Amino acid sequence: MSYKLISLNKIPSTQTYAHELIVKENAADRTVVMAESQSAGRGRYRRTWVSHHGNLYTSFIYAIEERDPKLSYAVAVAIAETLISFGISPNIKWPNDILIDGKKVSGVLIEYAKDFVIVGIGINIKTNPTVAKYETTKLNNYKEINKSELLSSLMKFLDVWLGRDFLVVRKRWMELAAGLNKIITHRGRSVELIGINEDGALVLRNGSEYIMTYGDEISI
Ligand code: BTN
Repeated sequence: MSYKLISLNKIPSTQTYAHELIVKENAADRTVVMAESQSAGRGRYRRTWVSHHGNLYTSFIYAIEERDPKLSYAVAVAIAETLISFGISPNIKWPNDILIDGKKVSGVLIEYAKDFVIVGIGINIKTNPTVAKYETTKLNNYKEINKSELLSSLMKFLDVWLGRDFLVVRKRWMELAAGLNKIITHRGRSVELIGINEDGALVLRNGSEYIMTYGDEISI
C-alpha cells in the first residue's frame, strides 16, 4: 500500500503540522509529512529537536482503532532495519532511540490525535546537534546516504514491522538493544537491564528485585 507524501520546506514541526491536518482537515491514513528543516522541532519530554537542513524530519499518520504502547518498539526496529539496509550497524536504546557507536542518530516521538497515531521520526544525516545530556552522531559519519532512498526504505520497513506480531518484534528489538544485561542507571539507581516483557514493559533487576516500568528514562 502506498503513502501520501506531503513534502514541505521549512515549517515549525512536521508533528504539529500532522496534528493540524488531523484536527482541521480530514487527514488520510498513511499520510507522511516531511520537512527540509523545522524551526520548532519537538522531542520527547517537551524537549527541542534541533532541526537544521539536511536531515530527515517526518511524521507518519496512521488511522488506528486503539492505542498500542508496543508500537514504539516496532518503529524502533523499523528504523534500525532501515539503517542496516544501508550498511550501518545501529543499536536501540530503550524504548526507541537509535544509536550508532553509542551516540544518538535518530529519535521517535509518538503522539495521538482523534483516531490517529502520529509517528514522528527524526534521523540525523548531514548534521547532528550538540546536546547536553547525551552524545549525538549523523549517518554521514558512516555512509553517504540519499535522503529519498532513506525515506522509501523507512516506509518499507515500517510496513513490515508495524504488521508483525509483538513476539517477533520483541525478539528483534532484544537483538538490537543496547546495554542488555549491563548495569544502567534508572531513577538514579544502578540496575541490570534485562529487556522487555510480553506486554512491552521494560524489565530491570536490582539484586533479587525485578522492576517493570513503562514510562521513565534510562542512561546506558
Ligand atoms: C526524541 O528523541 O526526543 C524524539 C525526536 C523526534 C523528532 C521528530 S523530527 C520529525 C517530527 N517532528 C517533530 O517536531 N518531532 C519529530
